[in-house]
Amino acid sequence: MKKELVIVLDFGGQYNQLVARRVRECNVYCEIYSYKTDLETIKSMNPKGIILTGGPSSCYEEDAATCPKELFELGIPVLGLCYGAQLMMLELGGRVERAPVREYGKTEVLIDKAESKVFRGVEEKTVCWMSHFDYISRTAPGFEVTAHTADCPAAAAEDEARRLYAIQFHPEVLHTKEGTKMINNFAKQVCGCAGDWRMDAFVENSIREIRAKVGTGRVLCALSGGVDSSVAAVMLSKAIGNQLTCVFVDHGLLRKNEGDEVEAVFGPEGPYDLNFIRVNAQERFYDRLAGVEEPEEKRKIIGEEFIRVFEEEAKKIGAVDFLVQGTIYPDVVESGLGGESAVIKSHHNVGGLPDYVDFKEIIEPLRDLFKDEVRKAGLEMGIPERLVFRQPFPGPGLGIRIIGEITAEKVKIVQDADAIYREEMDAAGMKETVGQYFAALTNMRSVGVMGDERTYDYAVALRAVNTIDFMTAEAAEVPYAVLNKVMSRIINEVRGVNRVMYDLTSKPPGTIEFE
Ligand code: XMP
Repeated sequence: MKKELVIVLDFGGQYNQLVARRVRECNVYCEIYSYKTDLETIKSMNPKGIILTGGPSSCYEEDAATCPKELFELGIPVLGLCYGAQLMMLELGGRVERAPVREYGKTEVLIDKAESKVFRGVEEKTVCWMSHFDYISRTAPGFEVTAHTADCPAAAAEDEARRLYAIQFHPEVLHTKEGTKMINNFAKQVCGCAGDWRMDAFVENSIREIRAKVGTGRVLCALSGGVDSSVAAVMLSKAIGNQLTCVFVDHGLLRKNEGDEVEAVFGPEGPYDLNFIRVNAQERFYDRLAGVEEPEEKRKIIGEEFIRVFEEEAKKIGAVDFLVQGTIYPDVVESGLGGESAVIKSHHNVGGLPDYVDFKEIIEPLRDLFKDEVRKAGLEMGIPERLVFRQPFPGPGLGIRIIGEITAEKVKIVQDADAIYREEMDAAGMKETVGQYFAALTNMRSVGVMGDERTYDYAVALRAVNTIDFMTAEAAEVPYAVLNKVMSRIINEVRGVNRVMYDLTSKPPGTIEFE
């Protein structure tokens, strides 16, 4: 299945996962490894090509991240991007220096060698994304310059005979207009990949592999109704049918009607064979949360209670052979197992299950996939689009969208307001352009008038953000007419609310959630 592999050696730049995603968009399987990975390991993976990424340092500095020169002598095509390009030049005898002019942003690039394999089909003048302090002031022996910009004499260079390619800009960033074409050219024209990494084949293969691995064993899966766990559960059920049991804990902090919607799709009336168990634990959660105001404390309680409920259910089911986890590839990379960009996750999903359940082994069927590929796999297996394209919803649910104490009354208010907001945003086509949107309940009550009466009710906050990586975000520009309509509907239809506000804060200093 993975015989055609391109590897990305990660030098710590910010676009590293993007590089791998772009390669996979060309239907070529790609994995990310640290630049420290030794040559023997690289050889044993038998990659068709290697891509060196950007990185934060200068390659001529004493303690800069490097790779052995022999990497360029393996006979495997190498594409160096930004830092990777500079490193390739430096190691092979070229020169890299601090540039007189720093280039940042969209830049016009002129292709000097139209017949270059990586630039096949690319316009003579094209727009690329530049971000560098240093530049290649002299290419290494054997290389010819294949592109330049006004400030960068060697924006790209290559040694066709040795199949070594250096590109100063970032083809993986969408601002580089023909970037995907360049990456596709590298994978197909230079590395000779056929491009047979496809989701239908992945799904089919995974199902076969799971069947072989599980045999007659029993499998337990915690289903949240989110994209990852839903796709994992359906894949398992297709592989092993009713050897699978799925437990769905309704903690009373889900969006309006969500518990019923999840049950309608995955429960006994739905199209899947999941041995679906719904645990209605709303009261338990509300009881535990009563009187608690501190955000971290609320998160902790929700997490702990979730585990307790799950554990009780697991005990009823008895020992199982396998436990399913919806880990996806970015989790693997960010936990430091893949590339260089280990990020300490600032929050945890409700989870930590392995310690609490009697099982022998974990199955992670989506471990190799990026989010967009998980979605494709879901569609491939016939999971409804509205589930596959759901926005991220945090494990602690509305628990982190209610300021102050959580009560059943407040949950109902935020559920109703949120349902109206999402309905109007969807109707206005905002789904296509805005990353994540939801309503939250501030703990503020203030005086208002309704009819002849004085009210003393809550203020609802509307949040809508655009983000690429969820580490930073900006408030989205929602049309005033949409906001106005949402405001009016919430005030009229949701009891207990007399003010609606739009949160303009970006992240940082805010967070996306509202807790
Ligand atoms: P913040 O609020 O940290 O959110 O800016 C960043 C992204 O992560 C989601 N989020 C969570 N997801 N469990 C999750 O599964 C959590 O505890 C959690 N907290 C935040 C949030 O919805 C946003 O997409």
